[in-house]
Amino acid sequence: MSEFLWVVYPYLCLMVLVVGMLTRYNYDQIGWTSKSSEILEKRLLGLGSPLFHWGIIFVFLGHVAGLLVPIEVYQALGVSEHLYHMGAMAMGGITGLMTLVGLLLLLWRRLSVRRVKSHTSTGDWVALGFLIATVALGLSMTLVYNVSHVAYEYRTTVGPWIRGVILLHPQAALMAHVPLVLQLHILTALALFAVSPFTRLVHIFSLPLAYLRRRPIQYRRRTPAVPCEPAPRD
Ligand code: HEM
Repeated sequence: MSEFLWVVYPYLCLMVLVVGMLTRYNYDQIGWTSKSSEILEKRLLGLGSPLFHWGIIFVFLGHVAGLLVPIEVYQALGVSEHLYHMGAMAMGGITGLMTLVGLLLLLWRRLSVRRVKSHTSTGDWVALGFLIATVALGLSMTLVYNVSHVAYEYRTTVGPWIRGVILLHPQAALMAHVPLVLQLHILTALALFAVSPFTRLVHIFSLPLAYLRRRPIQYRRRTPAVPCEPAPRD
């Protein structure tokens, strides 16, 4: 079972991600969009969307620092275990909470605004569901497990495991004693990767960095129609 969960399943999910993305890109470029719903409702979106997007960008950078940078680098830099975990819990806690609050606002918007709800596809619900589950599990590890127990040292287990997956020699044994909440977080995250080609999450791979700085697109109420000049007759 352990071999399946930590060796086979990750590659299955990553394969669905890559093949799914390539197939969708080939056959559905018109559908390759974030499906903006700003025109349907602005107020809740203006609050939830930046909270979620800025939160997830910093959470992503935190994952790179915590999982892809080996613990030996921190030790060589003189960063103690205590200092690392205090920083990770503070930064991870704040940015994770931003992400979760943003997601819950976006969920509330889809449930409560009739026009948005009726434009929500199954794929949108699936993406939102997996995002909320993944973020809530990650955050409960950072803010509940680590505060109520001793801070878990994932840099000697999950870190080398994920680097092994990337380098094509994953070791299931590294994941055997990882706390259940963190295991569930990772399994849900992998499932999120697998479903993303079939949802609006494809827009992540367009790297829309310009979105962060571009002027907002303005949707204006339609003004009374200006009478057209009659077309000149010959
Ligand atoms: C296979 C991929 C992933 C791995 C191995 C992973 C691993 C981890 C680890 C080790 C933590 C720290 C737990 C602690 O503080 O003790 C964490 C936290 C967290 N993860 Fe992930 N994660 C993955 C994917 C994701 C994804 C895709 C998301 C978002 C959609 C996400 C969102 C979070 C959040 C919000 C936290 C709490 C804040 C923080 O500590 O950064 N994770 N994850």
